[in-house]
Amino acid sequence: MSWDPALYERGHSFVWKLGADLIGLLAPQPGERILDVGCGTGQLTSQIAEAGADVTGIDASADMVAQARSNFAALTFEQADITAYRTDRTFDAVFSNAALHWVLDAEAAVASISGALRPGGRLVAEFGGKGNVGLVLGAVQELAGIANPWYFPSVGEYATLLERQCLEVAQAFLFNRPTRTEDGESGLRDWMRMFGRDWPRDETFLRAMEEGLRARLYRDGAWYIDYRRIRVVAIKL
Ligand code: BEZ
Repeated sequence: MSWDPALYERGHSFVWKLGADLIGLLAPQPGERILDVGCGTGQLTSQIAEAGADVTGIDASADMVAQARSNFAALTFEQADITAYRTDRTFDAVFSNAALHWVLDAEAAVASISGALRPGGRLVAEFGGKGNVGLVLGAVQELAGIANPWYFPSVGEYATLLERQCLEVAQAFLFNRPTRTEDGESGLRDWMRMFGRDWPRDETFLRAMEEGLRARLYRDGAWYIDYRRIRVVAIKL
């Protein structure tokens, strides 16, 4: 999948602004080795580094990694697919914000995360959970017959997966977080352009999406995407 880092940084800063809260849960300590999975253009990796941790950001997209390196030249970024990620030096923590729903082979991703953690190390992650962007997906299905392309698990499903890979679940919950897009009236179509890669782009489709969703997702001059997050903290046994 190809990413446009400039479009991502220009209009979607809510992704890392909303993820800043997750760093509080991670509570990075000076000297800790931390792996940031799906680091994008590196803003949260940099915040983890500011706490004094020794952080490595990985992302499957070469373009995102190039932008992250350009943004934060002193930090370490690698292009890597989490499903195939292996390391000789384990980490004290694995962190991931708004990335794991892109990885359809979730079992392989969790196996790699588990393999990257030292015993007692922690996973702190947030991504799209069951029902995420349900209204948007319902409209895309109805208008274009396209199914959900992402992995949005329930708490039960994901906890089972973590436990199968030697990760003990300390916290796991789902919560609604309607998310305000930037750019006012064009916010929904910008969001679809950025994230709904294989969705139609023609004006007729975009208008029909806006008409179908306006009553539920547009207010006070902005589109609010119906995000529903799953947040987990798990400890490597
Ligand atoms: C999310 O962060 O939940 C998300 C972002 C893009 C596409 C789908 C979900």
